[in-house]
Amino acid sequence: MNRFSNQTVLVTGGAGGQGASHVRAFHAEGANVLIGERAADRGAALADELGPRARLTELDVTDEESWAAAIRTAEETFGGLNVLVNNAGIQNPPALIEHTDQATWSRILDVNLTGAFLGTKAAAPALRRAGGGSIVNIASTMGLGGTAHYAPYVASKWAVRGLTRTAALELGRDGVRVNTIHPGVIATPFIHEPAAGASAAIADFYSPEPFAIPRLGEPADVTELLLFLSSPAASFITGAEYVIDGGLQLGPALQSEPA
Ligand SMILES: NC(=O)c1ccc[n+]([C@@H]2O[C@H](COP(=O)([O-])OP(=O)(O)OC[C@H]3O[C@@H](n4cnc5c(N)ncnc54)[C@H](O)[C@@H]3O)[C@@H](O)[C@H]2O)c1
Repeated sequence: MNRFSNQTVLVTGGAGGQGASHVRAFHAEGANVLIGERAADRGAALADELGPRARLTELDVTDEESWAAAIRTAEETFGGLNVLVNNAGIQNPPALIEHTDQATWSRILDVNLTGAFLGTKAAAPALRRAGGGSIVNIASTMGLGGTAHYAPYVASKWAVRGLTRTAALELGRDGVRVNTIHPGVIATPFIHEPAAGASAAIADFYSPEPFAIPRLGEPADVTELLLFLSSPAASFITGAEYVIDGGLQLGPALQSEPA
């Protein structure tokens, strides 16, 4: 299929575990892709691999000027922006709230929440100029409840939901839809590598075995949902939240028949 021919898609964190999967899939569906990355080496390598319809834009989502440059690149290189995926995110090193310093709190909120705010702010006029489009914010199932030791991350992902709903109201009349995806536990460096300042990775202490679908999610699982939400097939969906977690939110499955 070529659902995104003549469309331009900007994916933040576009060279990361999920981001690269999204970038490849949009590209395969005909889109021009902008890889918004702080890790310029990985972003450039992916852009080189994909060819002329792919570009790295060096982006720190916390920096308003680099957002302006990314939007300029979309419009000057590819003629406009149609889809923004606010995917870049970081986790805090696990710690109780009472042991979490303010700098850590602020850093996580800056990237995960302020990054999506600045992205929405920068992209909105460009999406309007393009005649409408879509923003998808990648939150987390951790943004639906509480998780001990992850207060900054949990709070940031809860807040993204409020941002999404408000943006959906503000931009709906301009043909811009804004939705949230809540991935569960997805096999990427995010769970396999410890957060900055931590010694253990999430994968060291998380097992999917008790849950309805007893496997880790794959980036491609999230990508499928993202492409649907970004496409005209989802034209009546805005301000919505989609959980993609293999049933993690349902709790543990029964492991055997009751006696
Ligand atoms: N992997 C999971 O289990 C999981 C679960 C729920 C939600 N998420 C969310 O999914 C999103 C993608 O995570 P992932 O699993 O691909 O992780 P990842 O660590 O593989 O990728 C994250 C990417 O974001 C980039 N990034 C970080 N800070 C940035 C900044 N300031 N500016 C620009 N880019 C920046 C990194 O360089 C990296 O390439 C994140 O928002 C994460 O919170 C992940």
